[in-house]
Amino acid sequence: MSMLPCFVANWKMNKTGSEALDYLDVLKTSASSLQKAEIILAPAYTTLDRVSTGIRQANLPIRLAAQNLYFEPEGAYTGEISAKMLRDLGCQYVIIGHSERRTHFGETDADVRRKVVAASRAGLTPIICIGEDAREREEGKTLDVVRHQLKEGLAGLKEGDVLIAYEPVWAIGTGKTPTPSEAERVHLTIADYLESEKISCNGIAPRVLYGGSISEGNIAAFMKEPHIDGVLVGGASLSAKTFINLVRLGVAAKESVCTS
Ligand code: PGA
Repeated sequence: MSMLPCFVANWKMNKTGSEALDYLDVLKTSASSLQKAEIILAPAYTTLDRVSTGIRQANLPIRLAAQNLYFEPEGAYTGEISAKMLRDLGCQYVIIGHSERRTHFGETDADVRRKVVAASRAGLTPIICIGEDAREREEGKTLDVVRHQLKEGLAGLKEGDVLIAYEPVWAIGTGKTPTPSEAERVHLTIADYLESEKISCNGIAPRVLYGGSISEGNIAAFMKEPHIDGVLVGGASLSAKTFINLVRLGVAAKESVCTS
């Protein structure tokens, strides 16, 4: 388990195999910039195999995540993918409960819970996404929503590594964000919750990432907050050059507060 700042590139439903390999080619030219961080790529299912092979062949310091999984281990579930299949492709992580899954595909807290358990059992680290929508924010319910989603998502997880991604739904793909100090307040609440529930791996608290409209212009301010351990990036991660820049800026911002 790593304590390096963590940068997740969530490509969502983007990139063919050749586009994914072009992206890796760009990362290869900047591998040294990636050393001080934990880098996780989350390609679509269809490119996981090629990206996995590309990472291995070039010995890149990059880990692989899937964007989803199904909670049953195997069987008659047409179109679904199990944790074991993802492990077989070299995945170490899996994003669970992204708001787009909850909104467009009707994923419930119970689904999230089952997926977290299935991932963890198979040795995959879940990256659990939580966050309030615009109405909940307006009504001042952010902290309650986040605590509730944590409770539901983590029920059943006895031990093992986990990452939490705080992603306000209204900030995803909109160019809008909370202020870094508003996000820090939520991250602190999440950290307190994890501590009170004794959720840790080998005594180390899970890292908590921020996601939602991260850009080269705002990443430093978020990463300077003490309880923001990394970022989950959607749109801005689609260009390899921009993603490398985000890693550089984010690592530098974290280092500047750690040494000051
Ligand atoms: P965004 O997406 O960076 O494009 O806002 C973040 C996410 O959905 O994880």
